[in-house]
Amino acid sequence: MAGQIPQRFIDDLLARVDVVEVVGERVKLKKAGRNHSGLCPFHQEKSPSFTVSADKQFYHCFGCGAHGNALRFLMEYDKLRFPEAVEQLASRLGMEVPREGADDPRAQAREKKRKEGVNLLEMSASYFRERLKMPEGQVAREYLEQRGVSDEIRELFGIGYAPAQWEALKRHLGGQGVDESVQIEYGLLVHHEDSGRSYDRFRDRVVFPIRDIRGRTLGFGGRVMGDAKPKYLNSPETPVFHKGRELYGLYEARQASPKLERLLIVEGYMDVVALAQYGIHNAVATLGTATTADHLRRLFRLVSEVVFCFDGDKAGRQAAARALETVLPEMIDGRQARFLFLPEGEDPDSLVRREGASAFEDRVVCASPLSEFLFEHAAQGRDLAQLESRERYASQVLSAIEKMPQGVLKSLMLTELSRRTGVEQSRFEALLAPVVAEEPELMPFDDAMEPAVEEGQLPQRRRKSSAALGLMGRTLQLLVHEPRLVERLPESLEWCDGQGDDARLCRDVIELLRAGGYSSAQVLLMHFHGSEDGERLAALARKELLIPGPARAAELDGLVSYFQRACKTPSRQQEIDTLLAKQQSGERLSSEERSRLMSLLAARD
Ligand code: CTP
Ligand code: MN
Repeated sequence: MAGQIPQRFIDDLLARVDVVEVVGERVKLKKAGRNHSGLCPFHQEKSPSFTVSADKQFYHCFGCGAHGNALRFLMEYDKLRFPEAVEQLASRLGMEVPREGADDPRAQAREKKRKEGVNLLEMSASYFRERLKMPEGQVAREYLEQRGVSDEIRELFGIGYAPAQWEALKRHLGGQGVDESVQIEYGLLVHHEDSGRSYDRFRDRVVFPIRDIRGRTLGFGGRVMGDAKPKYLNSPETPVFHKGRELYGLYEARQASPKLERLLIVEGYMDVVALAQYGIHNAVATLGTATTADHLRRLFRLVSEVVFCFDGDKAGRQAAARALETVLPEMIDGRQARFLFLPEGEDPDSLVRREGASAFEDRVVCASPLSEFLFEHAAQGRDLAQLESRERYASQVLSAIEKMPQGVLKSLMLTELSRRTGVEQSRFEALLAPVVAEEPELMPFDDAMEPAVEEGQLPQRRRKSSAALGLMGRTLQLLVHEPRLVERLPESLEWCDGQGDDARLCRDVIELLRAGGYSSAQVLLMHFHGSEDGERLAALARKELLIPGPARAAELDGLVSYFQRACKTPSRQQEIDTLLAKQQSGERLSSEERSRLMSLLAARD
């Protein structure tokens, strides 16, 4: 994992970039007085209520309230995560994004290795592409042609050919100075322990590069052209390639349209390629595995709707049932999942060729919503006129609903279940596992300030509760409930410099809030959604604060000054002395040094 991006770099970046330029590349803007204005890209409107201010380096929509700086805009518009948005802004200015801890030799070695791997995979991808154009690639070219893949689509997906030799790639990479051990590590060579020999993994196959969302090659899939087995061969798990996480075609889908609304999940490489050939550019494929929660989280970060495509046979229905289980916990309000069943014996590749794009699109539009599929699937093979069957039907649906996060959709599903079974909704609600009522937070202000109370003096319940949360946890909780409080925090984050998970997360949260200017907890939670940090934050958000608004700011101030006192060490005093001496000697302090000094002094008793 790369380290944190230092706050001062983000400040520097924002100082150099022009929000009008960034927005202007994506939204048509007209100069209007001191500002620019245009149609808001975040909601539907006919007359412009979206303004961008060059002075304030901010955009704001008077219609929907969307606002923020250049980073926030990229995150929202290009659906980037925070570090990706930083990378993107930095690259347009030709700046390299520094990472904290980057001078740690271990981190450096890791980074070097990662780069080595990425280069190696890129070299291999272009080698395979070259081979496809050579005389030796003729069979592969004919194969692709026979499957109806145009040259244009072949280029778009970077499809190549691995020659029918044992050591073609190995010799090529070796010639470029790539160690054999690295080639093995990244899955390009197969290594035989017994003989000690290694040879090309992909031989005489059409090769599909699997790319990450930024287009970097992570691994390959290779298809035989004849009847040899296995039909497809994928890269093994490597430091950069994890089958359960990557999706084939995601990069290409994003390239085709930056404003995706919906993605189709299909089974195979050729399905993605064939759909693209017919102008349907929003399909991705899992790589020979069932759809995982990881996959879904990635997709839902980009689009609000996914459509699963399945074969119409029994295996297809089983796969759909598995997908349903996986998607239920991800169904927060605003997301949609639908299920498309193809006619028996067809896959998207064969179907789109037979019926054409618009018939296929019609099928997508008519795909069953999750709710419909869930009820139908549970009803299958049951005679609902019979009481016992109806009970089993209800139990099955109920246990599925139970997996959904709280929200309107969940309530509606319960209402529908009640309608379909004639049982009152409240009965079903009573059967659902109770939403774990978080223990009320009983840490009053004074307690928070004096955490070193002897254990025995605290009543049992309170001790348990504050131990579970901790002071840094409480700080985080305050920020999650009221992101605006970030404005009160001292500029230096020294007070949360600690090693603990909560301290680290606290820094991440503050940096994000500062960079994005967010005021909604929802955006914060979305940003971290799908990670352990996200779960921690969501749990904190669920815990009620139990203190009124004005007291929250006071509590936060108290916590911060407590941490500041706690982190003060003699070396800090020395630092103060040095800075003061420098100032008194008449030398000008840089703004960074000044704020450092201020925060050091503020932290002093
Ligand atoms: N797959 C795999 N290993 C195999 C077979 C299949 O990894 N031995 C994965 C591949 O990602 C493949 C997908 O499962 O694209 C679907 O496989 P299958 O239905 O057998 O093939 P198709 O995609 O229809 O392939 P084609 O049209 O090229 O025959
Ligand atoms: Mn097929």
